[in-house]
Amino acid sequence: MIKSIIAAKSNNNVIGKNNDLVWHMPADMKYFMNKTKGHYVIMGRKTFESLGKPLPGRPTIIITRKKGYKVENCWVVPTIEEAFKIAEDEGQQHVFILGGAQIYKQTMDVADNMFITEIKGEFEGDAFFPAIDHNKWKEASREEHQPDERNKYPYAFVEYVRK
Ligand SMILES: NC(=O)c1ccc[n+]([C@@H]2O[C@H](COP(=O)([O-])OP(=O)(O)OC[C@H]3O[C@@H](n4cnc5c(N)ncnc54)[C@H](OP(=O)(O)O)[C@@H]3O)[C@@H](O)[C@H]2O)c1
Repeated sequence: MIKSIIAAKSNNNVIGKNNDLVWHMPADMKYFMNKTKGHYVIMGRKTFESLGKPLPGRPTIIITRKKGYKVENCWVVPTIEEAFKIAEDEGQQHVFILGGAQIYKQTMDVADNMFITEIKGEFEGDAFFPAIDHNKWKEASREEHQPDERNKYPYAFVEYVRK
């Protein structure tokens, strides 16, 4: 089963603030929705709560240490390993890791690839994407975009694969 990290980060690696996103970039939302469509998604409890509900068409596995935490129509598991096991047991060939910071940090060593949207700006935040070790990861593709009336910042869609 392929395990893909998907994240949007700023130049200074910010991914969020006060359990929310810090930019409004519809082009990235569209990219994210297209990539993850129809796939199982794994996320930390805080990211889930920031979304507020499961994303339609994406069976959701939430990781938490809280006992008795339940969300209708979602799996809730106490470890990252169990999250992967559910996706495997459900016959998935490709699962997406949706964050947040804690979950990215703990899955970067087991992910097969990463879809990173670079938002070209410096932002204040309290949640960060881990540093990408370029001895381990190489760019497989890069698509640069200029800002437009709906997307305020320049951005790039970058896929990383293992070296
Ligand atoms: N820009 C992006 O692409 C992107 C994507 C996703 C999220 N975000 C942002 O990231 C921020 C949230 O990230 P975060 O790091 O604060 O939270 P998070 O990673 O979403 O969730 C953290 C929670 O996951 C659970 N957890 C983590 N590791 C675990 C483990 N090994 N075993 C069991 N449970 C574990 C714990 O839940 P309990 O406390 O319930 O035990 C922990 O508090 C928000 O600002 C969000 O908007 C940004």
